Amino acid sequence: MTKILMVCLGNICRSPLAEGILKAKLNPTKFYVDSAGTSGFHDGELPDPRSIKVAKANGIDIENQRSRLFVKADFEIFHHIFVMDISNYENVLKLAKSDAERAKVRLILDHIHPNAKLEVPDPYHDAIEGFNRVYEMLDEACSCIAEELNSV
Ligand code: 4NP
Repeated sequence: MTKILMVCLGNICRSPLAEGILKAKLNPTKFYVDSAGTSGFHDGELPDPRSIKVAKANGIDIENQRSRLFVKADFEIFHHIFVMDISNYENVLKLAKSDAERAKVRLILDHIHPNAKLEVPDPYHDAIEGFNRVYEMLDEACSCIAEELNSV
């Protein structure tokens, strides 16, 4: 079982969408997908209603998800850790204790724009259009990631 973790700041807007989108593209008997946040601000909460709405409009149900904090033990569980922005990247790397752990962490948009250091913008203070844009970016990235994972 290959395990993939999606990480953002609050684990209520971007990473729940990334989790739902990638899950929908992978065989659940071969892949486990989860998400977490580098802050515990929204621990135990449902995804943001705007993320739930955008996911639902695209046929994906993310209402079973609950926000949780990213913890050091996640490095031992997950094979791939995708972060949304550079701040998430730095916060996750602070908890890594080896090069092998650091090598698991990658900006999610790196798959479609290698080494460009592009970020999925935090849509928390945006209107629904910001969430639609985030959905489109994540859908494109997750298609690429799913293709890569399925070809291994
Ligand atoms: P996320 O968005 O990191 O995509 O879940 C945010 C959600 C909440 C906050 C910031 C970003 N917040 O400051 O509460």
